[in-house]
Amino acid sequence: MKKSADWWRQAAIYQIYPRSFKDSDGDGLGDIKGITSKVDYLKSLSLDAVWLSPFYPSALADGGYDVADYRNVDPRLGTLKDFDKMVKALHDADISVFVDIVPNHSSDQHAWFQEALKSPSGSKARDRYIFRDGRGKNGELPPSDEISHFAPSAWTRTKNPDGTPGQWYMHLFAPEQPDFNWDNREVQLDFLKTLRFWADRGVDGFRVDVAHALKKDFKRLHIAKKNMSGFEIVQNGTDILFDRNDVHEIYREWRKVFNEYDPPRVAVAEAYVQAKRRMLYARPDELGQAFNFDLLGADFDAAKFKKTITDNLRLAKSEGSSSTWVLDNHDRVRHATRYGLPKGTNLIQWLLSDGKSAKLDRKLGAARANAATMLLLSLPGCTYLYQGEELGLFEVEDIPQQDLQDPTWFRNVVPQMVKGKVSGLALIHTEKGRDGCRVPLPWESRKKSFGFGKEKSHLPQPEWFKDFAVDRQDGVKGSTLTLYRSALALRKQLQTSEELRWIATSSNQVLHFTRPNGWQCITNFNGKPYKLPKGEILLSSAPIVAGKLPANTTVWLKA
Ligand code: GLC
Repeated sequence: MKKSADWWRQAAIYQIYPRSFKDSDGDGLGDIKGITSKVDYLKSLSLDAVWLSPFYPSALADGGYDVADYRNVDPRLGTLKDFDKMVKALHDADISVFVDIVPNHSSDQHAWFQEALKSPSGSKARDRYIFRDGRGKNGELPPSDEISHFAPSAWTRTKNPDGTPGQWYMHLFAPEQPDFNWDNREVQLDFLKTLRFWADRGVDGFRVDVAHALKKDFKRLHIAKKNMSGFEIVQNGTDILFDRNDVHEIYREWRKVFNEYDPPRVAVAEAYVQAKRRMLYARPDELGQAFNFDLLGADFDAAKFKKTITDNLRLAKSEGSSSTWVLDNHDRVRHATRYGLPKGTNLIQWLLSDGKSAKLDRKLGAARANAATMLLLSLPGCTYLYQGEELGLFEVEDIPQQDLQDPTWFRNVVPQMVKGKVSGLALIHTEKGRDGCRVPLPWESRKKSFGFGKEKSHLPQPEWFKDFAVDRQDGVKGSTLTLYRSALALRKQLQTSEELRWIATSSNQVLHFTRPNGWQCITNFNGKPYKLPKGEILLSSAPIVAGKLPANTTVWLKA
């Protein structure tokens, strides 16, 4: 069925992390055929779309976000033919397809980067990336003091073909992820080609990775920033590296490509910037939508939720977009875990201690996670879900060190101090990384790798995963899967106009709002059981006791 041009405004979109979704050939990696084999499952969730994290050829230095070929499928995950079949099967189930576009950087295995390494300074091939001479007498110092997300410096020195040290190249992420030079027209045109390539294959939308980083002010790069310890983005569009005003020219050009299609292709920006600046990416003549991550870092707190919701709805409206809502993705600790840890727990430390530094209350985490999800699903706008949250999965906090894959684990380097002075840099593991939310899904509790593949899975699954397997929850009253299915199906019917009106409550721990068609949502964040107003109970995240809504519970009513 052909969708209207604005189908995405209030959609439910499910993120698939392909290597951890379903493995059809038993090599331990999830694949495209695996996704196709689960279309019925996806359909049972009443989704509007799925978004696939990168499935392109990749050396997996950053879970596939190091792309070696933007217009192909990793042979370990399948072929373009498999991809086409998957799109057809999803479309037949009325589920649209988003793919991930990673435009800030490629893999160092990309043909262009390999060509650049073999080409001389100042060559056309090097101009597609960011190559610079080093500072110091012999160019032994990096061109600037900019840092990267996964390594101490954003610069890595190359070797000339004759083995002598050469120029440096920039990478805001791992050294295996060289940044493109977005002032280069060839780079710009190549991405337009990539967008058309996937749109021509029937892809309906694009998730744009690190959308705010593409343009850099190279003239100011050499300004040394002493003691840089993190990124502080200047919030007016004039930062050296991030969220620059000129980055929007790129997306205005992309929008023209999206509008060549009927219905126009859709896009969503991943831009880690302040809410107000983020919405610039969502303007109708740009990407149309931007991820709102405000709740990902927030406690389960009524006042915080209310403010975030109000602010984001207002901001989205002011730019002609609809808001997005996200509780989980492949980069963050799962929300059932976040909400089950004592307030103020440092998640990085907690993961480093294999979950020993603070006690996780699973019951509480699960109750709050389901309550928060139901609240999000009743908001105007588009909700992004992440694979496994519908099973109530918790973060796997104790993956053995030898099994970790995330570059965050390998790249963290800290200054080594001798007598109060920095004597060098040491590779000390300061962050465990994001593998704990990327562990392959459990499908069948009694099978090897819990039905994910045939034998093994590329990240180890803990024994407790079996209790969360799909077959344990399918059709079971009170299971998280049943709740997600019911909530998503109901939402599909109820999600009409984009208005929301708050209703006063007698407790500051309770949020209550109504949508114009009489659909009401009430969440009790942490207070005493709350007496429900009159209305038909459509669904609740936990049983209602004697007409009262217990703490950590959401209910939907029809007035
Ligand atoms: C985005 C992705 C993350 C990746 C990074 C670099 O933030 O979500 O997984 O590591 O970009 O591509």
